[in-house]
Amino acid sequence: MANKSLSNIIVLISGSGSNLQSIIDNADDIGVNIQSVISNKADAFGLQRAKNAGISTKVIEHMHFASRKDFDHALIRYINTLNPEIVVLAGFMRILSADFIAAFSTNTSKILNIHPALLPEYKGLNTHQRAIDAGDSEAGASVHFVTNELDSGEVILQKSVVIDPSDNADTLAKKVLKQEHILYPEAIKKVLQK
Ligand code: GRF
Repeated sequence: MANKSLSNIIVLISGSGSNLQSIIDNADDIGVNIQSVISNKADAFGLQRAKNAGISTKVIEHMHFASRKDFDHALIRYINTLNPEIVVLAGFMRILSADFIAAFSTNTSKILNIHPALLPEYKGLNTHQRAIDAGDSEAGASVHFVTNELDSGEVILQKSVVIDPSDNADTLAKKVLKQEHILYPEAIKKVLQK
């Protein structure tokens, strides 16, 4: 067996964790060791996915903290104990503070996010409905570096899908999510190869 050194990453989730699952399934090919999966919600299904894969999990619930800053500092303290190369946001539904972003956007670590739109179009929420309402012929997903401005950091990779006349926000979300599962492993690999 090849003696390749793996890059340590952690994954932050809030929900289903299907992107997490894709990263778990492709970890060998990407060349990563997932040190921990962190959720801000105790009932996130992604925690079960991590446990099934034998990955350690940590719940840090934002509602138990008085402020965004306090929550972010609890996250920073925990993540600092792991010293990951990449902090992967995969359906993590919290906006992170400047302190968090500065802590892990360094020479030795980066923060990545996946957004279900072809950035710079449709930052924020309800991306699929907005693309349909605008009469767009295509939609997609982007993996980007996280900066202080929401969904605005440098795009690493994107994948697009065709919007069919029969699509609604749900069918489009499913089509895009399928592409996300291919896109995120590719984007992490690309960042690590730089
Ligand atoms: C994905 O569509 C992702 O782009 C968005 O939230 C969804 C998370 O899905 N940020 P999952 O939890 O990975 O299944």
